[in-house]
Order: sequence, then C-alpha cells, then structure tokens
Amino acid sequence: MKIGAIPENLLERLAMVFGLVPTPFIDTFNAVIVARAVMVATKLDVFDSLASRPLSATELAKQLGLDAAALEKLLNVLVAIGYVKNGPAGFAPTRLARKWLMRDSPRSIRDNMLLRFLEWQAIETTEEFVRTGKALDVHDLIRDEQWAVYQRGMRSLARLSAPEVAARTPCLGNPLTMLDVGGGHGAYSAAFCRRHPQLKATILDLPQAVEVAVPLVAEEDLEERIVHKAGNALTEDLGRAVWDIILVSHLVHHFSDAQNRSLLKRAADALRPNGLIVILDVLRESSREVGSQTGALLDLYFAITSLSGTFSAEQIAGWLTPTHLGIERIIPLRSAPGISLVVAKKVADSKG
Ligand SMILES: C[S@@+](CC[C@H](N)C(=O)[O-])C[C@H]1O[C@@H](n2cnc3c(N)ncnc32)[C@H](O)[C@@H]1O
Repeated sequence: MKIGAIPENLLERLAMVFGLVPTPFIDTFNAVIVARAVMVATKLDVFDSLASRPLSATELAKQLGLDAAALEKLLNVLVAIGYVKNGPAGFAPTRLARKWLMRDSPRSIRDNMLLRFLEWQAIETTEEFVRTGKALDVHDLIRDEQWAVYQRGMRSLARLSAPEVAARTPCLGNPLTMLDVGGGHGAYSAAFCRRHPQLKATILDLPQAVEVAVPLVAEEDLEERIVHKAGNALTEDLGRAVWDIILVSHLVHHFSDAQNRSLLKRAADALRPNGLIVILDVLRESSREVGSQTGALLDLYFAITSLSGTFSAEQIAGWLTPTHLGIERIIPLRSAPGISLVVAKKVADSKG
C-alpha cells in the first residue's frame, strides 16, 4: 500500500500531470495532520460516541467533555478524509470508521490506533538515528503503564490474520504442543488452539509483556490450554524435541542476523520430528532490494526501534542452513497483505 498526494478535482489532476503539486508538502504537513486527527478522535471516543445516533459538534462536545468549536474542526477533518459524514441530523461515522475503529466491531483496530502514540515518540528520533546509527531498544524503553497499550495494539492487528495463519499452516496430523515465541497477547496461540483441539500452547515473552498479557489471554477462554513463560528469546533454552509448532511472529525484525540465527538453531533443536518452525513477518524482496513502500517504511521503523529491519526469504533460509531445516513453503497472507508465513519443517530423520 502507498500513501501519497491524490488529486480531488480536475484542476488538481492537471496540476499533478504538469508537475505543479508540491508533493513534499502533502507528504509531510497533510499526512501528519491526517494521522494525528484519526489517532486523537479514536482516543477521545469520537467514533464510538457517534455510533447509535448522529450528533452535532455541540452535543458531542457536551457528552465527551470537550471544547465544541475545537471538536468541530476535528470533525471537519474527519469528514474530509472519509471517517465521518455530516448530515442534517449531525455527524455520524462512515462504514470505514464503523468497521475498523468501533470498539465492538469484529475487525476493530481501535487498540492499534492507541499504540500509534507510542510509535510516534520513536519516529521522532529518526534524525538522531540517521546521524548516529544508534537505535532505540524499544522494548527497554516502554514504560510499565505502556505495556498494556503495546500488547492490546498488537493483538488487534493479529486478530485480523490469526485464523488464516492457523488454517494455512500445513501441520501434519494432530499437533499437541506449540511454542509462541514473543507471542505476548496470545491471539495466534488462541487461533491455533481453536484449529487443533488437542493443542496446548506456551507463550514465551518478556516478563513485562507477560504481566499484561495474561488477562488478555483470559479473554479468549482458553486458559487451560495457553500458558505464559516469562523469559528472553535471545538466551532461553527452548528444550529438546518438545514442540510440534514453534511460531515466531513479528519478532525477527527486532533481532539482528546473528540473534535470529541463534534463535532458529535453538528452535530447531526444540522441535519434534515433523515439527514446524513458522515465521510470520513482512518479507523483503531479496537481500538487496527494498520492495514495497510499506516494506521500506517498516524497514526504517524497525531499524530506529531495534537496529534491525525486514529480512528476505533468502536471509531466513540462511539462518536455517546450520539446522538442516529447509523452507518448505512461503505463504503470502490474504488477510494481511504484505505479510507472509515462512514454514520450515523438521523431517523425521533430520539432524537439526
Ligand atoms: C511486535 S510484537 C509481536 C507480538 C505477536 N507475536 C504478534 O505477532 O502480534 C513483539 C513481541 O515480542 C516480544 N519480545 C521482544 N523482545 C523479546 C525477547 N528478547 N524475548 C521474548 N520476547 C520478546 C515483545 O514483548 C512483543 O510481545
């Protein structure tokens, strides 16, 4: 997916064709105001408050304890970008806002909008990163009260693709044990447990994540089958021949090449025969190419936050070489465009 300047009328279309649009202005000033308006409206409960009936800015401001004139300006931006419509009875959310931003929508990514406020702070350090090459260690910087925002934000995105990930992971027979490395909120473990009725999952995550993630997993009603283990995936002994599935979702982009090599070596040792290592992440086109716009943006963002980035399937294959596991399948997700499953299998007589 791309962001960019989109003409709204014929004059603007012509200006675009003749190269008269100052695109950098749109890419920066407009983009930032759009982003902040959606984030703030979500945080202030604007969308949910308009769900049952349209309201004027004054009525909504009274209900939410906000300034009516200022709120009207925000609402006008939301109308301009298609999140809210303004009719005779007042402002109401559009289908887009109802689907993605309402608390009780099955596709809600409301929690992920709140995570944007934390990411914003990290993005502000881009200049420092480019000057010095020194990255943040984002997991060390998250404050105690921010861990729940982080985990809930990741969960809301994970829920969009977790059923597909569980359904399309080519498990043989009846998997019994799963290790979800950096699985925090548990949305993927829950989807795998629903798909495989005898499966039990262990989520290995940092202690701060585990503290806030336990109640999130309780919401899945699968406490009997999903447990957390507090630990560090960079150093943890993952066991010997104990897991049928080891999932590593959106974690390798926080680690260096050497750290991922070590993680996958320990994961391969910990797999049972016919077990699968499943890596879920944004893949680069190849080790040298940048690929899609989103891929390039994420590559920079992961570098700012963890001095890492996105990796290609070839690089992942390289981590697996010493383990004697080979990549069996790469499955681009339909529910999360740009994200792929990389599946490696430990064959019964593998030495890995
Ligand atoms: C980007 S989130 C991904 C969460 C989940 N796997 C998903 O795909 O939605 C990264 C997760 O890895 C965890 N994590 C980061 N560093 C870790 C480490 N060294 N050991 C274990 N977990 C780690 C974070 O706490 C967080 O839960």
